Amino acid sequence: FVLSDSGSSKGAALVSAVAQRLTSQSRKVIEMFHQQLVKDRMRAGLEAGLRSQGPFTIKMLPSFIFHKPNGKEHGKFLALDLGGTNFRALLVRFKKQKSRIYHKIYTIPLEIMQGTGEELFDHLAQCVCDFLDYMGVKNARLPTGFTFSFPCEQTAIDTGKLVTWTKGFNATDCEGHDVVGLLREAIKRRNDFDLDIVALINDTVGTMMSCAYEDPRCEIGLIAGTGTNLCYMEELKNNGKETDGETRRSNMCINTEWGGLGDDGSLDNIITAFDTEVDQNSVNPGKQRFEKLTSGMYLGEIVRQVLLDLTRRGLLFRGHISECLKKPGIFETRYLSQIESDHLALLQVRSVLQKLGLDSTCHDSIIVKQVCGAVSRRAAQLCGAGMAAVVDKIRQNRGLDHLNTTVGVDGALYKLHPHFSQILQETVKVLAPQCDVTFFPSEEGSGKGAALVAAVARQNQEIYLL
Ligand code: GLC
Repeated sequence: FVLSDSGSSKGAALVSAVAQRLTSQSRKVIEMFHQQLVKDRMRAGLEAGLRSQGPFTIKMLPSFIFHKPNGKEHGKFLALDLGGTNFRALLVRFKKQKSRIYHKIYTIPLEIMQGTGEELFDHLAQCVCDFLDYMGVKNARLPTGFTFSFPCEQTAIDTGKLVTWTKGFNATDCEGHDVVGLLREAIKRRNDFDLDIVALINDTVGTMMSCAYEDPRCEIGLIAGTGTNLCYMEELKNNGKETDGETRRSNMCINTEWGGLGDDGSLDNIITAFDTEVDQNSVNPGKQRFEKLTSGMYLGEIVRQVLLDLTRRGLLFRGHISECLKKPGIFETRYLSQIESDHLALLQVRSVLQKLGLDSTCHDSIIVKQVCGAVSRRAAQLCGAGMAAVVDKIRQNRGLDHLNTTVGVDGALYKLHPHFSQILQETVKVLAPQCDVTFFPSEEGSGKGAALVAAVARQNQEIYLL
């Protein structure tokens, strides 16, 4: 920057060009090193999690889903979806391989996310009651699938203990408890409606199932949104965990909870001071280190830390740290997406920053855009590296030279960010050259998936007997 700014002289311009080339080449080398490291660590983490009976950084949780949908699902189901700052209630009707969905979104206030478990589940029951009223089905006792997008140690399709909260949730008296039981108790306390909760699933599993309903090759579910996670169909013989009496089946969907990679220090080589700061300021320091490098809830905070540093060093905002820049959470993912949009002229970037209360010069806007780009590019590359580890594992499980596979994918970072999905896909291509991976963006994935799982669980008391 310094050279090109002062740059009327040809010499300076030349030095600048060479420096830039060198910088971009060394950047590529460092990026490749990071990606390969994450791919290797992810692979080792997947294997260790599968073998272990106890807690591991990558938890590899059994989902008790053994087969994918067969298209014969039929009837009316309720799906409840708790994953981020919103709770969604959906009524889904399946008929002749078509589905019709009605839904309503409810926000979860911060004080409820971080209050008591009873308050949280009472709030959910209140939202369900409102939705049933709204849809006119309060007395129907509908079969229900519950998408609960946090790590749960399942012992059956409809039972699972919350291992630990993630993504800013911190409600008391929930960890270690069966979340289906907590919801049933909250409904009982109200005593004005009843549900037949037949399935508990993770959002990755819902996404995989709803995409598999359209494309039978889909065997992986990926979420790149507020949090990040992946599930995939694993061969049961590789799973060292207790899943009583399941010897008749050959595959089971495993919720990896890959966001925990690095919680044992295995990513310390690539973690920067900015990441450490974000981690330390979070509600779960030391946990979900991979998630904190790659998902929407944290990227804006990393950007803010970099901008604070540049400002302190006098390189940005004329060295003045405004009150706004001190505020955690000002850079939501949607602002990153806007700032990085190719269609946005510099003046518009400035006006986005202005809306956030940041008074910037044109020069500041360029730097902010570059910082956002670097942070989201790294996130997409690391996510792609993790995905490369998974598809290569599936390929080797089957003893194949070449694997063709489909990933169902959801999450605002993947769907709305202007570059994330492309960089992720390119990274998978480079790091897993023996795999052809098709990415299938899901529509209403996690909710519809819960309804699909409920459909079969109810009808057959058995998940997807083909
Ligand atoms: C967090 C949760 C995980 C979920 C993911 C995406 O990582 O622990 O269960 O799938 O966010 O929502």
